Amino acid sequence: MAEQKPDELKAVKIPEIMPIMPLFNVVVFPKMMFPMEIFGDQSAALVDEAMSKDRIMGLLVSKKTHEDLQYKPEDFYNIGTSVVILKMAKGGENRAQLLVQGISRFRIVEFIEGKPYLQARVETLEEEETNDIEVEALMTNLVSLFDRIVKLSPFLPQEFAVIAKSITDPGILADMVASIINSATEEKQKILELMDVKSRLKEVTRLVNHQLEILELGNKIQSQVKDDMDKSQREYYLRQQLKAIQKELGEGEDESKVEVEEYEAKIAAKNLPEEAKKEAERELDRLRRMHPASAEYTVSSTYLDWITSLPWNESTEDNLDIKKARKVLDEDHYGLEKAKKRIIEYLAVRKLKPDSRGAILCFAGPPGTGKTSLGHSIARALGRKFIRISLGGVRDEAEIRGHRRTYVGALPGRIIQGLRRAESNNPVFMLDEIDKVGADFRGDPSSAILEVLDPEQNFSFSDHYLDVPFDLSKVMFITTANILDTIQPALRDRMEVIELPGYTMDEKLQIAERYLIPRQIEANGLKSEQISISRNALKAIIDGYTREAGVRNLEREIASLCRGVASGVAAGDVEKQAIAAKDIHKYLGPVRIPPEVSIRTTKPGIAVGLAWTPTGGDILFIEATAMKGRKNLTLTGQLGDVMKESATAAMSFVRANAAALGINNDFFEENDIHIHVPSGAIPKDGPSAGVTILTALTSLITNRLIKKDLAMTGEITLRGLVLPVGGIKEKVLAAHRAGIKTILLPKWNKNDLVDVPVKVQKDIEFFFVDDMMEVLKLALEK
Ligand SMILES: Nc1ncnc2c1ncn2[C@@H]1O[C@H](COP(=O)(O)OP(=O)(O)O)[C@@H](O)[C@H]1O
Ligand SMILES: [Mg+2]
Repeated sequence: MAEQKPDELKAVKIPEIMPIMPLFNVVVFPKMMFPMEIFGDQSAALVDEAMSKDRIMGLLVSKKTHEDLQYKPEDFYNIGTSVVILKMAKGGENRAQLLVQGISRFRIVEFIEGKPYLQARVETLEEEETNDIEVEALMTNLVSLFDRIVKLSPFLPQEFAVIAKSITDPGILADMVASIINSATEEKQKILELMDVKSRLKEVTRLVNHQLEILELGNKIQSQVKDDMDKSQREYYLRQQLKAIQKELGEGEDESKVEVEEYEAKIAAKNLPEEAKKEAERELDRLRRMHPASAEYTVSSTYLDWITSLPWNESTEDNLDIKKARKVLDEDHYGLEKAKKRIIEYLAVRKLKPDSRGAILCFAGPPGTGKTSLGHSIARALGRKFIRISLGGVRDEAEIRGHRRTYVGALPGRIIQGLRRAESNNPVFMLDEIDKVGADFRGDPSSAILEVLDPEQNFSFSDHYLDVPFDLSKVMFITTANILDTIQPALRDRMEVIELPGYTMDEKLQIAERYLIPRQIEANGLKSEQISISRNALKAIIDGYTREAGVRNLEREIASLCRGVASGVAAGDVEKQAIAAKDIHKYLGPVRIPPEVSIRTTKPGIAVGLAWTPTGGDILFIEATAMKGRKNLTLTGQLGDVMKESATAAMSFVRANAAALGINNDFFEENDIHIHVPSGAIPKDGPSAGVTILTALTSLITNRLIKKDLAMTGEITLRGLVLPVGGIKEKVLAAHRAGIKTILLPKWNKNDLVDVPVKVQKDIEFFFVDDMMEVLKLALEK
């Protein structure tokens, strides 16, 4: 406590002989108030006597501790402070609380015996007043330093700084600051002994500086420690705050807790395989520590959703009643004897040897021939779930195998996705259009598909997303393809191909009447007595509107008919409708298929070829014409290089054999020849049009007509040999659809006819040839 009342105190008269109170570890400065406690006989007697007189005593700092003090002069410093006792409170035997106020410095002249307490003759020390500019500077500096000390010390009240600023006497300022700062007793005593005010100010400044350094260093250390602690605690505090906010908003914590518990329960209930369980639990553990609002939380919970919803152990019971299976297949599909028989065999083997790992069935054929719907049927016959994924255009391995979980928005591949949809681990799983799988820089999906289909590997299929193996061995995979050539060889080796080449007119009629029409009647909300479609009407649709191997477009046209009738019935215009061939154009518009072959081949120079296409084969017209010119050959109709070379070879053959064919050699000198293959917009290629081009050319130049309803296919050599070609079955079926009656085929292709339905073989007359002269003899009219 510090205070001064200089005016009042100046009036106090200091006696020459004073009682001396020893001080331990503390220095009291003039003008300062100081509370002190005294005890012991000597001190009590001293205070008693002082209180009864002028209340003045001298405080002198002892160099010894209380216990060691022997009251010898050398035990004390020489300079002390005279004080007046402002207040006294007795606190029991020989004890008292005093409040004293310093008056001035004194020096001991001599100690005097004769009292029960210490007594001395003293000399009061007066301070000379110095007030130069240096003192002023020293004071300002000291005040500001002291100000900083007050700020840095939590236990010093701010008022101290204010008081220090208000002190005008430099000596008192130095004393006051010295009395307050935290310095050793010896240091403070030194201040007390410094009578030169300038030196005292300097010395106090030194002490203050020292203390400031200590305080600042202490602060720095403290804030550093705090920093370290902060980092770890900051997050904790933030989380706590976030929790509080969420609680306030009624979300978060509890919900996520519930969610975590739900996952826990799901994992427990699911009976996961060991590895999956471990992974799920690890993820759950992660989830627990995450905040529900974070992105990682969603990633984690999505993963847990997947892993807990996959059919790890769930499977459906197989129906292995072969007779019933056969019945189901017949119910769904007309014909397809070979395919159905093979499917039944397959099921029979499964029945006798449940763990048998047969080859993968692959249904191959043009669109609309029932590949996909056969898959459905098999699932139905077996009592299994059916899942179909289309591989058309799949180029990225990740589509099959999924993306790694670290990738944002990652998902499992299509196989695992399909299984989740199936909700059973033994569905019939159709990989549709396996021939349309592409490969590029993102990795080859074929190798992933290979792993899926390989019974040696697929019991532990690894999806990148799941990251734990999934057993695919119970799945019955079926694949479909339009073309077999584009399937990766290793994949093709795995598969047992069942061909669905396409339907004849008769088969289409049966399919339409038994399946497509009833289905479309129902789909369009009609009753069977409200619509009838005559057989001739169906034929007209098949011939005039759908040129296809399968029945997809036929079904579409039938659907159009049914919609047309349905709208009439709904409007109340008609009650029922019988549709005959002549009515078709009303519903379906004008005929779309180009006119009959016979109409188009009434001039020399037009031959009918057969082409193989992925959609099941087609007929092809080749037109040749001549005009005045000089030996030029023009080819049009989007022909590929191979086909162009065939044309050139055919031309060379005709010229080389001009004499034998009865052609005037001048013909070539005087004419340009143009060969065109409609439809001009569709690209065409391959060598198999060789015989047809040659026949068209010869017909043109010799001006002989080609026989009616005759088509041909085959490659030629410059020597006039006819070489075998591919796709015979599709070509023959296409010719049959187009009403061709005679076909010329390469001799080497004779065996391919076994695949052609007997009915078709009966309708068409075949000639097998290996020599061009023979072709021309058969094809051209006399
Ligand atoms: N033999 C058949 N018997 C009955 N309907 C058939 C037959 N073949 C095909 N279909 C029907 O034709 C439509 C097209 O068949 P779809 O299986 O999609 O052909 P794909 O998969 O071979 O392209 C389906 O509605 C299907 O039921
Ligand atoms: Mg299909």
